[in-house]
Amino acid sequence: MRVVKRLDEWRAAAEGLRRRGRTVGLVPTMGALHAGHRALCDAARERGDALVVTLFVNPRQFDDPADLARYPRTPAADLALALEAGADLLVEPTGDAMWPRGAQSVTVSAGDLARRFEGRDRPGHFDGVASVVAKLFAVTGPCRAYFGEKDYQQLCVVRALAGDLGFDVEVVGVPLQRDPDGLALSSRNVRLSASGRASALGLSRALVAAASGVAAASALRERMRVVMEDAGVEVAYAEVVDPATLAPLDDDAAGPARALVAGLVEGVRLIDNAPVEVG
Ligand code: PAF
Repeated sequence: MRVVKRLDEWRAAAEGLRRRGRTVGLVPTMGALHAGHRALCDAARERGDALVVTLFVNPRQFDDPADLARYPRTPAADLALALEAGADLLVEPTGDAMWPRGAQSVTVSAGDLARRFEGRDRPGHFDGVASVVAKLFAVTGPCRAYFGEKDYQQLCVVRALAGDLGFDVEVVGVPLQRDPDGLALSSRNVRLSASGRASALGLSRALVAAASGVAAASALRERMRVVMEDAGVEVAYAEVVDPATLAPLDDDAAGPARALVAGLVEGVRLIDNAPVEVG
């Protein structure tokens, strides 16, 4: 596995993989790698892609400097996981390599999808994500890019970015990974105490409750909210949306939908989602 930091080395290394006839699979991450990231790497390797993993904690997608400062950083363990996952290239760009003009850098506006849910509660978040992902696509030139369904709204934003700006990349959504107790894997989980973790299970339980029987969208929303509040989650939202447009569904809607939940536990923002049926 080759490790690069500079933009010119990164571009040349990705180009070298393509010249050797390999399809390039990109797994963008902010480090603190866990089994969810491993699943993204495995999905790329299963398709025969040369695996390019990027590690960059992107300051432009954090609206709260304290959240950025607290974001877990585990570089040695990340290196080991990338190696074990069979990465061909590990890219750890410096802040200067990514954003040489700092806050003055060009920003990609992520559009209407970005103003709901996580975007409403974290202003500018998805513009920061769209901007960094556009740069990762531009420098790496991947054939496929792998994103977890855990960040379902992010996956929709990235699909829109690739389609609207004409990036020639297949965006592959990989099912989210859960711990045996049901908690969705997230780099933020390490910040929860044992009792915080017990409360956090309210998110996945809310989704199980929503998926347990077909009902009108408003009834599913109510079911989820009650379970989360009972568990001690400070609810940010509990929504039932169209799986492609993320438009909230009304009670006339019938068929497959996506339930999205978010909340705060011990000051840690957690999100989760699952397919549900409304009717
Ligand atoms: O999901 C993440 O870890 C980040 O939002 C991403 C896609 C790597 C962009 O910084």
